[in-house]
Amino acid sequence: MPRRFCYIAIPMTDRERYRPIDLDEAGAASAREATRRRLAGGFLVGEQRIDPPCILAPMEGITDRGFRNLIRSLGGCGLTVTEFVSSEAMTRNVRRAWEMAELDPEEHPVSIQIYGRDPQRMADAARFCEELGADIVDINLGCPSKAVTSGCSGSALMREPELASAIFDAVEAAVRLPFTVKMRMGWDHASLNAPEIARRAQDAGARMVTVHGRTRMQMYKGEADWAFIRSVVEALEIPVVVNGDILTVDDAYRALERSGARAVMVGRGVMRNPWILRQIADDLGGRPQTQPTLAMRRAVLGQLFAQRSQGIEREHVVLGRVKKVVTYFTKGLPHGANLRRSLHRSQSLPELFEQVGDYFEFLSARGLEAVFDEAHDEGESASNWS
Ligand SMILES: Cc1cc2nc3c(=O)[nH]c(=O)nc-3n(C[C@H](O)[C@H](O)[C@H](O)COP(=O)(O)O)c2cc1C
Repeated sequence: MPRRFCYIAIPMTDRERYRPIDLDEAGAASAREATRRRLAGGFLVGEQRIDPPCILAPMEGITDRGFRNLIRSLGGCGLTVTEFVSSEAMTRNVRRAWEMAELDPEEHPVSIQIYGRDPQRMADAARFCEELGADIVDINLGCPSKAVTSGCSGSALMREPELASAIFDAVEAAVRLPFTVKMRMGWDHASLNAPEIARRAQDAGARMVTVHGRTRMQMYKGEADWAFIRSVVEALEIPVVVNGDILTVDDAYRALERSGARAVMVGRGVMRNPWILRQIADDLGGRPQTQPTLAMRRAVLGQLFAQRSQGIEREHVVLGRVKKVVTYFTKGLPHGANLRRSLHRSQSLPELFEQVGDYFEFLSARGLEAVFDEAHDEGESASNWS
């Protein structure tokens, strides 16, 4: 669409008195202002205030206690959510499930996410979450993985509304904690039933619903449909959170405006830019966005490595965990593709750390300080940073 301009009088110096105003930009600025006003002060989940309305998404294998603490320490995080914990494993006393549900005493507000298909076990697991000190218990209706859906949990429950309702009722009856639900738009595009399932959750007592704007069949393909989430917002009185493909502050505003949601939840975007929640919160609060320097990025990557290594003795396990997070973290970094290739070839931790050190030296030497958001690795593969 061609850009539209007009001239308006502004009480400024004579030279500036008549200057062109870009109406599209002006419209975007006023839409932003309206979103800021709409979200000011955050919102309540039961008695728990979520402010800023910026939530770290649950990510299995990533958002463990250390990772959540690290992101929270950077600021702007109104709520953290654990990785999903199997209610089956928890109620059968599997140690790993209990480890995944462990919280830091300082970490509040925090939600423990559980999944499963047996209402009684889900209720028991929710009770354990309460005992563990969670502020909220979240029910997973979004996981698309075969391992979970073949057990008819996660997003498979969207195809069984009656069972989903039975789970909501059982959890609501079991705990004083508020419960929330995270779901997809539906199983596939022929069954976009998120508004119906969300309504069932609300009727059972849910205090918040998060929607990842994809279907189960899409897995992670295509684009998140933020506009669809408006149909869930319109079906509910409780707060709705928009999730999926939010990588920048502009994306957050677009997602909030298209969906009408009360908050954003960000997953992969946090690994790409650990300050993204902080930057969104800064902007929503009318403050200048925090701009991490290269030194800050390097320090956080170092902390991530240290955190990933904690409590694990076998080097190859640590290497695997570090490589997983590094793959996301280096997306969008200048020459990030080259860095990823080198890191994935690394055979030991010292070798990997050295590669990272060399990479940051290279960026510094080239003066590529504040280029994270602008720079993309595409098209840079010919040049090697090492
Ligand atoms: C590695 C990984 C693990 C995930 N694990 C969970 C999980 O345990 N529970 C859950 O509800 N969603 C999980 N998700 C989905 C995210 O919470 C989120 O809904 C999805 O990634 C879309 O948001 P994003 O585009 O901001 O990443 C996971 C996603 C990723 C990439």
